[in-house]
Amino acid sequence: MSSESYSLGAFPTTRLRRLRQHPRLRELTRGTRLHAGQLLYPLFVRGGKGVRQEISSMPGVFQLSLDELEKEVREVAELGVGGILLFGIPDEKDPTGADSFSDDGIVQQSLRVVKRAAPQLYAVTDVCFCEYTDHGHCGVIDQSTGRTDVNNDATLELLGKQAVSHARAGADMVAPSGMMDGMVGAIRKALDGASLTHVPIMAYSAKFAGGFYGPFREAAESTPQFGDRRSYQMDCAADPGQALRETAFDIAEGADVVMVKPALAYLDIVAEVSRTFPGVPLAAYNVSGEYSMVKAAAARGWIDERAVATEIVTGIVRAGATIVITYWAKDLARWLKA
Ligand code: PBG
Repeated sequence: MSSESYSLGAFPTTRLRRLRQHPRLRELTRGTRLHAGQLLYPLFVRGGKGVRQEISSMPGVFQLSLDELEKEVREVAELGVGGILLFGIPDEKDPTGADSFSDDGIVQQSLRVVKRAAPQLYAVTDVCFCEYTDHGHCGVIDQSTGRTDVNNDATLELLGKQAVSHARAGADMVAPSGMMDGMVGAIRKALDGASLTHVPIMAYSAKFAGGFYGPFREAAESTPQFGDRRSYQMDCAADPGQALRETAFDIAEGADVVMVKPALAYLDIVAEVSRTFPGVPLAAYNVSGEYSMVKAAAARGWIDERAVATEIVTGIVRAGATIVITYWAKDLARWLKA
């Protein structure tokens, strides 16, 4: 119904402040409600023992060794957070990122720990190469054409291997983040070929290049050693139609969940994707830089972290995200309980 077909009322008979007088009434009339079950919590795992190393640019976020991961996932599960998103930092990096598809890779070991310590916890894995390659790019580097770039199709094959390896080690869902063309189709085919038809894919469909991933690259030790990611991630000023096209391609290739990333500077894209593809669950990644900015300002007493973080994640959900990946997942779960 459009607002022309009925009266929205007029002052002084209608007073909009009336609905805002009582805290219960404000709650009764809310359209957006956060709950811990809609959040995914990113975790960074590395080798060693007793390692709980804070990321300097991301206070409250740590690189964890497997024994620390075990404690962490018990806590996350108890808080009722929707699940975890696992990132691995291998002991050794090489040109193809072989650790990422090895049975004994850091993510595979992590999954076995998670499934033992918190069997009910939903475990998603980031499927990409930048943390595993010595050059820090999201795929295999090819110089055969005279230009240095990530070879899309050679990367697809390895993405399939990585996804199958993660799923066999216990991943409940895989989340390819490298923005390779055809990545969802290649992974679906590889999973199905390995009788892993039940494992869903959450595709980082519209992932934009830019400055917001800076702190993450410290956390995941994944800074590109040359160049940048602009030949595969989207341009922030691209026509929004390109984000829709990326998303449509991923859905056609079998994506079960699609994603927009980063969230905050791209809420128009979140809203547009949500309206264009109703019925396709949409995730939005509240990325590292969005977290660090708030942390830095809060540390100076300039803003109230709890209020601002709650507002940010509420905004992301209001824009249309059904899942929010956020470093505040544990905090929010606690705040929502209190
Ligand atoms: C790539 C990947 C990145 C993030 C998640 N997966 C970084 C990148 O593209 O360089 C960023 C997440 C964040 O900033 O919090 N594997």
